[in-house]
Amino acid sequence: MVNGHRAPAISALGLRKAFGEHVVLDGIDITVPEGTVYSLLGPNGAGKTTTVQILSTLIHADGGEMRVGGYDLEAERDEVRNAIGVTGQFSAVDELLTGRENLVLMGDLQHLPKRESRRLAADLLERFDLAEAGDRPASTYSGGMTRRLDLAMTLVGDPRIIFLDEPTTGLDPRSRRVIWDLIRGLVDDFNVTVFLTTQYLEEADQLADRIAVLDQGRIVAEGTAAELKQLVPGGHIRLQFADRNALFAAATALGVSGGMVDDDEEFTLAVPSDGSVKSLRALLDRLDYEQIEVDGLAVHTPNLDDVFLTLTGHPTSEKETVS
Ligand SMILES: Nc1ncnc2c1ncn2[C@@H]1O[C@H](COP(=O)(O)OP(=O)(O)OP(=O)(O)O)[C@@H](O)[C@H]1O
Ligand SMILES: [Mg+2]
Repeated sequence: MVNGHRAPAISALGLRKAFGEHVVLDGIDITVPEGTVYSLLGPNGAGKTTTVQILSTLIHADGGEMRVGGYDLEAERDEVRNAIGVTGQFSAVDELLTGRENLVLMGDLQHLPKRESRRLAADLLERFDLAEAGDRPASTYSGGMTRRLDLAMTLVGDPRIIFLDEPTTGLDPRSRRVIWDLIRGLVDDFNVTVFLTTQYLEEADQLADRIAVLDQGRIVAEGTAAELKQLVPGGHIRLQFADRNALFAAATALGVSGGMVDDDEEFTLAVPSDGSVKSLRALLDRLDYEQIEVDGLAVHTPNLDDVFLTLTGHPTSEKETVS
């Protein structure tokens, strides 16, 4: 999808940033083609917000060659600002104002004529399914509605490039999906470029054309979700047994030595597998033949969690017992 002769919407080469002694970005490279969604994935404190703040001109980098919207990030800061919209990690919505007033205010801040601001506000309320709630104070909005309003406010001024810093953190799965659809719509209908940060692998998987995994100041992998998934060993079937004897008997019968958990409470074995019904049946037949009782099983196909664990040696967030 890369447009050969056009400059990328965002490019960074050797982007560096430290706060005092603490190196947050240790020379990262980013290229985002126009009209695509790029996701920066990383755990708390990885440097996601710092990257967004630098690329959206809120703070200065210590080094690197950066261009946004075709403009030099240092020499042409005003031009960059005119080309972008930003939804920060923390909401920019004024809760005392109504949804409509928040949008009109954004228009005023961008020096749009009053009539134009009002028309735009009405359009955006409609588009983001907030028309009915438009004249209520934002303090009465649900988390999902507030996030939608935040996103709508980002679009005032018609930015070509939008930065979304953790746009769905804290939302329930349904509201999250609504936001994903809205973001996809922006890219498909308006050819907007989206730079998105997230801690959710599923979000990156669903939305992003390309994903970069940020860990301890460096991008440790970059590619499409499918490419990243190819970096990790294949899937497996996790078998659960009642006791150690059954576990060891199964490991012997199946000739598997890795992926064993034997910790007094849990007796499980991870058997490499493509997860197909055929392989599952063969596995169970074998255990049946050896008269080994299986208490439970789970089929596990590789996901971005596995990618993260493999690349960084630690899980993204919650516990992940074995792999
Ligand atoms: N102004 C600042 N002064 C000093 N340290 C800072 C400053 N801003 C960020 N940091 C540090 O830089 C690191 C990266 O922070 P950043 O906010 O970019 O992470 P993040 O990936 O956005 O995390 P989260 O997922 O929690 O939002 C953290 O260790 C943070 O404490
Ligand atoms: Mg952040």
